Amino acid sequence: MALLLGIDIGTSGTKTALFSEKGALLASCTKEYPLYQPQNGWAEQEPDDWWNAVVAGIQQVLRVSGQPASSIAAIGLSGQMHGLVMLDEKGDVLRRSIIWCDQRTAAECEEITARLGRERLIEITANPALTGFTASKILWVRNHEPDIYDKCRHILLPKDYIRYRLTGEFATEVSDASGMQLLDIPRRCWSDEVLDKLSIDKTLLGRVYESPEVTGQVSSAAARVTGLAVGTPVVGGAGDNAAAAVGTGTVKDGFAFTTIGTSGVVYAHSSRVLIDPKGRVHTFCSAVPGEWHVMGVTQGAGLSLKWFRDQFCNTEKQTAERMGVDPYYLMDQEAAKVPAGSNRLLYLPYLMGERTPHLDAAARGVFFGLSAIHTRFDILRAVMEGVTYSLKDCLSVFEEMELSVNDMLACGGGGSSSLWRQMLADVYGCSVRTTVSKEGPALGVALLAGVGADVYASVQEACEAVIKTNPPQYPDINTSKIYGRYYELYKQLYPALKDSFHALESL
Ligand code: XUL
Repeated sequence: MALLLGIDIGTSGTKTALFSEKGALLASCTKEYPLYQPQNGWAEQEPDDWWNAVVAGIQQVLRVSGQPASSIAAIGLSGQMHGLVMLDEKGDVLRRSIIWCDQRTAAECEEITARLGRERLIEITANPALTGFTASKILWVRNHEPDIYDKCRHILLPKDYIRYRLTGEFATEVSDASGMQLLDIPRRCWSDEVLDKLSIDKTLLGRVYESPEVTGQVSSAAARVTGLAVGTPVVGGAGDNAAAAVGTGTVKDGFAFTTIGTSGVVYAHSSRVLIDPKGRVHTFCSAVPGEWHVMGVTQGAGLSLKWFRDQFCNTEKQTAERMGVDPYYLMDQEAAKVPAGSNRLLYLPYLMGERTPHLDAAARGVFFGLSAIHTRFDILRAVMEGVTYSLKDCLSVFEEMELSVNDMLACGGGGSSSLWRQMLADVYGCSVRTTVSKEGPALGVALLAGVGADVYASVQEACEAVIKTNPPQYPDINTSKIYGRYYELYKQLYPALKDSFHALESL
């Protein structure tokens, strides 16, 4: 039997999962690593931490599954998008990776817009200049660390750095490359015009593939440390969102999903290039060759709840440890006891600035309506509701673009909470389902590996064969009405606070 290996290099950790060709999970493990925040709004990770997590993960799934490495037909890579990895001529890492949620590049975004013009930039890259995207990070290093930039010979995304360590190839694929802001999104290739105007040498970038294409084979050096078989093919894979789309079967028009991971994403498949002229949502190439997707991103989704857990939930952490359960399970039970609306408390989840719909790196988190009657539990529920309203903001932009969504799936850590899924159903006003497999991006890239290894004829065929869904949760009309009133108020808060966020930033 041919086996498929999916590796997802996430922000909190790397998941390595081994599947049968029918998509059955044989073994999986997650290895965590730190996020460095040297300044307010900065976020960095150590590429070597990712590699060590990948090596340990592969060794563990091979050991636990008891399967020979030679039975792996192909490997797919997924990962956090946008992160900048710079290598010197020897292939050594030059500095920590500046990752997707880092917000230091506002000046470089202005520089990009000035060099290209906002309209032309959106025409080619389908997005305005954004602090999260890789291009502005490249310019930041050039402007602030010229010695490092001078030594840089290769620029890679996080999962493509792992590809380099596994195969020795400098390559990427269209879905993740879309988030660099250097790709011509309608044509699915590097944009010479953008590269020329930003004075970035094209030879720094890897070769661009479609997601299911084979990009290289496991080298003997990588085989020695991981236990993989030399020559195992590695396919393009996908950025974590495009990979989650495959892992949830969101590969046809009308299909959409919401991820509540560190960031929150509302993602819809589109067989044509559909661009929001205001640039509030991203249009990227999808992992389905020749097709695209639109996605709205809220920066601080699961991140908000994790922040709350780490700052205010020591009791839950200790109880959870005693009970052998996850602290989020206890937090869910506590939040469920608070009524919808959190006793008139609203939360804006802008801990790391905000993308959709505000595109404002200076925005910050807010609790609005805090009163002496509020308990920790009201605040906890308000955090979950605030994240849900920010996801509704993303869906509202899709509605304005006339991008129709007939089917909503929920995934990511937050999507596994039935309370949070019910909030999504109530706030969106539509039913929400989950997939039976919880492996999301790792399964998605394993299926792409299956297409690359000719186990499946196409991405759609792979999804039809493997992805199964659970029964939906439906909106409750009365709760939907309550949330509707709170959402109206939520929408007024950012415009009212916008100038104050910028004043705060300059203090
Ligand atoms: C997408 C984005 C995040 C990261 C983190 O544009 O920035 O979803 O991929 O996982």
